[in-house]
Amino acid sequence: MIILGINDIAHHNTSAAIIQDGKVIAAIEEERLSRIKLDNQYPHRAIAEVLEIAGMSANDIDYIAFAGLAPREQKPASDTLFKHIKEAAEHDSVLKSFYRKQQLDRYARLLKKRPALPEAFKDKPFDVIEHHHAHAASAYYTSPFGDTKTGIISLDGSGDFSWGSVWTGQGSQMAHIMHLHAMNSIALLYSAFTVFLGFKHTRHEGKVLGLAAFGKAEPLRSRLMQEINLDDWEDRLLSPKLARATLRQFTEMGQSVLRELAHDLSQEDVAAGLQAFTEEVILHWIKKISLQLDVKNLAFAGGLFANVKLNQRILDLPNIENIYIHPNMGDGGLAAGAALAVSAKHASTAPQFMPHAYLGTIINEDNARKALDESGLKYRKPEKLAEEAGQLLANGKVVARADGGMEYGPRALGNRTVMASCSDASINKWLNDKFQRTEFMPFAPVILAEHSQDYFPDWQENQVAAHFMTITYNASEIAQKNIPAAVHVDKTARPQIIRRQDNPDYYDIIAEFHQKTGVPSVINTSFNMHEEPIVCSANDAIRAYLDAELDALILGPFLVTREEQLSHD
Ligand SMILES: [Fe+2]
Repeated sequence: MIILGINDIAHHNTSAAIIQDGKVIAAIEEERLSRIKLDNQYPHRAIAEVLEIAGMSANDIDYIAFAGLAPREQKPASDTLFKHIKEAAEHDSVLKSFYRKQQLDRYARLLKKRPALPEAFKDKPFDVIEHHHAHAASAYYTSPFGDTKTGIISLDGSGDFSWGSVWTGQGSQMAHIMHLHAMNSIALLYSAFTVFLGFKHTRHEGKVLGLAAFGKAEPLRSRLMQEINLDDWEDRLLSPKLARATLRQFTEMGQSVLRELAHDLSQEDVAAGLQAFTEEVILHWIKKISLQLDVKNLAFAGGLFANVKLNQRILDLPNIENIYIHPNMGDGGLAAGAALAVSAKHASTAPQFMPHAYLGTIINEDNARKALDESGLKYRKPEKLAEEAGQLLANGKVVARADGGMEYGPRALGNRTVMASCSDASINKWLNDKFQRTEFMPFAPVILAEHSQDYFPDWQENQVAAHFMTITYNASEIAQKNIPAAVHVDKTARPQIIRRQDNPDYYDIIAEFHQKTGVPSVINTSFNMHEEPIVCSANDAIRAYLDAELDALILGPFLVTREEQLSHD
């Protein structure tokens, strides 16, 4: 069965995906094609592109899966949320007036219609999968746990009026355990603090996480802990005061609460307090729920699980054996998630581990040559590309690589990646300057799987979350000595652990670098300019290469170097 998943009404990262016999074969977000970060337009381009990648036409599609409920279908979840707001408002005058003012909007938005499906698909059968069901399905049906009973948890800011859900999965079936109403969203609280610290919500939460390592968690952690009720996760987790911040994160109603809690603290201490609080609250609950459900393996999705430090702490829980995070844990992953849920429902497909995330637009020899010819750049097709690239990296050069299928999800994993040696920590400053970025977490390293335990002793081979850069590990003495540019001040790093079978051309470059330097790891940062989506096409790659004035570009089987360019000019 072939299913087209469409995420058409999310607030950000609309997307499309094709699932064939329970397996994701193509997936892309609209932002990569429109070149507008977090784009939420109808995913026309993404739908056309996944068909192109899969070599299919509309006729091949058996079923459509929509991610997210249409507005009128959201009424029960909206009613639950507003019931809780009303209760909290009994003890909070600000919430009382908020509740009153929201009533008209609340019903008006339920009247909105879902956008029309493109003509070519309008006669296809379809199913609608609720937001958190789609997140949870994206995690479970691509997870590596085989037949063992798996706990599935989604947590995000808010979707379909909820901020999370819990399920168990076995075989093709997912059993629903609970939904969490959005007033208690710790992720929205995190976003509110992100704005409080002067950053952009939905984009820069990772900066706050990076900043946290520089600060002291107290006193903010304790102040926040006083405002929550850990024994009442489902109903009244947050105090009415904190609920003001989750319900209106960016206006005075929410921001005044944060000022009161954190006005006397440095940026670093706010970030540290917030991160420590988030870890403590989520860990407490995950421990409890996983024991209750009697599961040792957990699959996660939803934007909160982009928090790589939190993921490390979860894996450290004594009752947890392994965790897996869907590589596109944010709303960009909803199209695939919805389609996977529909596939399980109508074709009883069981989880199939997704061994790589190279599911997007493909750069090949033909389109790379065409783009290079148009650009006027001098290029050649080296016989031993990996060896040349490894030598350039060993010589301290910065090498971009754009080849094969684009990564699905927020992380570049080799196919739209910029590489450099990690031997000198100062690269974090000057390479970020080149890309016009500010970051507090250092670049992430990619490391050959065979050597990973020397650098990250806690990593075990079955911990595939590290293939997708979704978790941090403690860095060994060797790592601190050999790859200082990729180790954070708290002595952790967020590695991509690469096996040759997952991406041989990319692996071979790092293996060549290893042979020449003795270090099995280089920096892997995403190939994009400041605030732009990751490069998608060969033309995007050439533009970003020139804008950032990098030393070399691998485009498909071709190599462009700055040195040869200069001699050519
Ligand atoms: Fe979401």
